[in-house]
Amino acid sequence: MKTEIFTRNDLTTASELLANGQLVAFPTETVYGLGADATNELAVKQVYVAKGRPSDNPLIVHVNDPEMVWNYADLNWRSLAQKLMQAFWPGPLTIILPIQDQKLSTTVTGGLKTAAFRMPDNALTLQLITQLNRPLVGPSANTSGKPSPTEAMHVYHDLNGKIAGIVDDGPTLVGLESTVLDLTSSIPTILRPGALTREQIQAVIGQVQDSHHQVQNDEIPKAPGMKYKHYAPNAQVVVIDRKEDFLTAIKQLQDKKTSFAVMATDDVLNNLNLSSNLPTFSLGDSVVSASKRLFAGLRRFDMDSSIEYILAQGTSDLELGKAYMNRLNKAAGQQHFKLEEQ
Ligand code: TXA
Ligand code: MG
Repeated sequence: MKTEIFTRNDLTTASELLANGQLVAFPTETVYGLGADATNELAVKQVYVAKGRPSDNPLIVHVNDPEMVWNYADLNWRSLAQKLMQAFWPGPLTIILPIQDQKLSTTVTGGLKTAAFRMPDNALTLQLITQLNRPLVGPSANTSGKPSPTEAMHVYHDLNGKIAGIVDDGPTLVGLESTVLDLTSSIPTILRPGALTREQIQAVIGQVQDSHHQVQNDEIPKAPGMKYKHYAPNAQVVVIDRKEDFLTAIKQLQDKKTSFAVMATDDVLNNLNLSSNLPTFSLGDSVVSASKRLFAGLRRFDMDSSIEYILAQGTSDLELGKAYMNRLNKAAGQQHFKLEEQ
């Protein structure tokens, strides 16, 4: 199959492919999604095949209007959920709700009695859903286990030949996946941190908790996606928590004649005075730009199999930093640079 790249002028072609049960990747403000008609069981099954995704990991149902949710979700949750939808949709918030019996296939829900809903903040994708007139399932459009795609080229790299097309709308704005909020627990619970923070959600619905639950492989996890290895490039990522430790970490690796790359903000890169043949990737000048570029950086160095280590800059665990550190820690398998290791 030839994977076509579509622009804003080709949305009708893209929606026709989706209506025919084909897969088309779509842009959102967070990351690119792998789209299929949520009501077409065979099409949804193909999403798992194309990604190499375990079939017990349910998909987000993307809508173009909050009203679309209530064709599927339990209406008892309507007044609570609508406060959040009004405040944050379209935007990087995914809401888990109980569903009406038989309204969504078990392929979408992974057999759970709940489903994840989100209205993405991207004009092309909202128009695509309007033309299709049905919701779109969409996991991130990467091969399972790889960093989520923040550019159409990333999707092409992973899924070329496996999907019908990609709607290209340039690099995504946020760069990290949406905040996943479980409204079905007695205290609403954040299953995956994202750009929308706990404090912002609490301001609208009152108490919200973070999920600190560690998932074992043999239990059914609350957010099934959390149990799988994620965002991992081939090289070992090591988090550098304090800017001033970069020099020491670099010296250690140079002494060992190890090949490595550095991902850091511009101020750090400029101060380090690195030799020009050392591979570096700029995270920009803030946690906003770092979040936007993190996955692209991990992918860049993944292309070069000679790189053994990636030294990547950490940040504080506050606000957007919480989502950034969540993804970086997963990519690093929690490995942080410690001075006493010298
Ligand atoms: O920003 C995003 O959320 C992107 C864009 C494309 O919308 N999508 C995305 O999808 O990241 P995915 O499939 O990579 O991650 C969805 C997460 C997974 O961890 C999944 O297990 C969880 O949401 N999830 C989906 N349905 C669920 C449910 N009913 N209960 C608990 N967790 C659920
Ligand atoms: Mg994903």
